[in-house]
Amino acid sequence: MSAWTQQWTGAQSRYAATAMVRSMAFTGTRRHCFCLRLPCYIRRVFGKLDSVVQVTVTRESLQRELRRVALPDGGDVISRDMVRALSVDDGKVSCVLEVPPELGTRMEPVRRGVESVLKSVPGVRSASVVMTAHAAQGSPKQPPDLRIGRHPTRAQGVEKIAGVKHIIAIASGKGGVGKSTLAANLSVALARLGGAIGLLDADIHGPSMPMMMGVSERPVSPDGKLIRPLTAHGVRLMSIGLLLPQDEAVIWRGPMLMGALQQMLQQVQWGELDILLVDLPPGTGDVQLTLCQRFELAGAVIVCTPQEVALIDARRAVTMFKRLNIPILGMVENMSYRVCPDCGEADYLFGEGGVRREAEASKVPFLGEIPFAPAIGRSGDNGKPVTAAASEASDAFEHVARQIRDQSRALSPRSRWK
Ligand SMILES: Nc1ncnc2c1ncn2[C@@H]1O[C@H](COP(=O)(O)OP(=O)(O)OP(=O)(O)O)[C@@H](O)[C@H]1O
Ligand SMILES: [Mg+2]
Repeated sequence: MSAWTQQWTGAQSRYAATAMVRSMAFTGTRRHCFCLRLPCYIRRVFGKLDSVVQVTVTRESLQRELRRVALPDGGDVISRDMVRALSVDDGKVSCVLEVPPELGTRMEPVRRGVESVLKSVPGVRSASVVMTAHAAQGSPKQPPDLRIGRHPTRAQGVEKIAGVKHIIAIASGKGGVGKSTLAANLSVALARLGGAIGLLDADIHGPSMPMMMGVSERPVSPDGKLIRPLTAHGVRLMSIGLLLPQDEAVIWRGPMLMGALQQMLQQVQWGELDILLVDLPPGTGDVQLTLCQRFELAGAVIVCTPQEVALIDARRAVTMFKRLNIPILGMVENMSYRVCPDCGEADYLFGEGGVRREAEASKVPFLGEIPFAPAIGRSGDNGKPVTAAASEASDAFEHVARQIRDQSRALSPRSRWK
């Protein structure tokens, strides 16, 4: 039996014994049916005891328990300083397990072990452990020094990113309306128009940029301080999806979410950029607020589909940005029409001009219509934005890109656009 399993059975039997003692004390005179109904008693007793005895779970008590998780090469996860961002919220525990990259996936049993030990602690209702690989300082080729899952650092007022002229958010109130598709295609179109363009995937829970831009390698950090963005189709790119295993779910919220966004903005070697596009998650939540309140934004582009249900959410997003004093650079209607393959006519599936009218009513520019085209959908899956080559679909994005470029030029007349 491995040291690991021994620890496990030890922990389990200790808690099983506690459960028995607790349940016997509670059953009292009805002990005659105790044996038959043992499993159900344990469940009921625990339910009642938990509501009577408030079990307080602290970070310190969890750290003490985690000392029992041994590592294959000696020591434990606490003494080897591998547990990061340990947090408890209403019985829900989460943490990041930072492991040496050379051990990589061999540490998966340890991750599972940490999760199981956390779950076994009385008062813990659920536990999630995300594993990240992180090299020691000074190794020849270091992975990024981006300790994701950290809390944000304090800032005095609104921050700028060195070298970045304009940060532009791509947003919508609704999910699935084409924010990421627009962000990917717009970034490539803007780069083709001669700008130095960056693209930050701020959808921390559902990053789609690695797939849409066709990159998957892990970024490196040559100086151990700043992470080097990847380059795809002439655009500098950063996404949390490049730092975590592909199918890993990110379970952060609140401060950790904001910390990750801040790190991806400030700990990345963006270099000199005319525009940094930020692909936002849907809604008007933590990420949107952090970006608007902590960083100097040139403006936001709102994407919307023509249906009324999407327009309602887009209106909310417009209101949020206006309240936060972020200029709305304009609205884009995605999936406006389909070009009939037989006659070549535009077929407005959900009615014509919905987003244009909305933009007029909100007194913001209308930047254009993007057709619904299978080629656009496919391009998102195969990592090649349609704007990487000339086509009708590409023209629609380029029309939007030219207006963004002009607005950016107007803000910085001495920029390097061709
Ligand atoms: N104009 C279009 N024509 C065809 N397919 C499109 C078009 N725009 C987006 N899609 C497809 O619709 C799906 C959703 O698009 P996308 O991921 O860009 O939306 P999103 O607003 O970023 O979603 P989320 O809110 O989940 O981040 C994708 O599969 C994408 O390829
Ligand atoms: Mg998206």
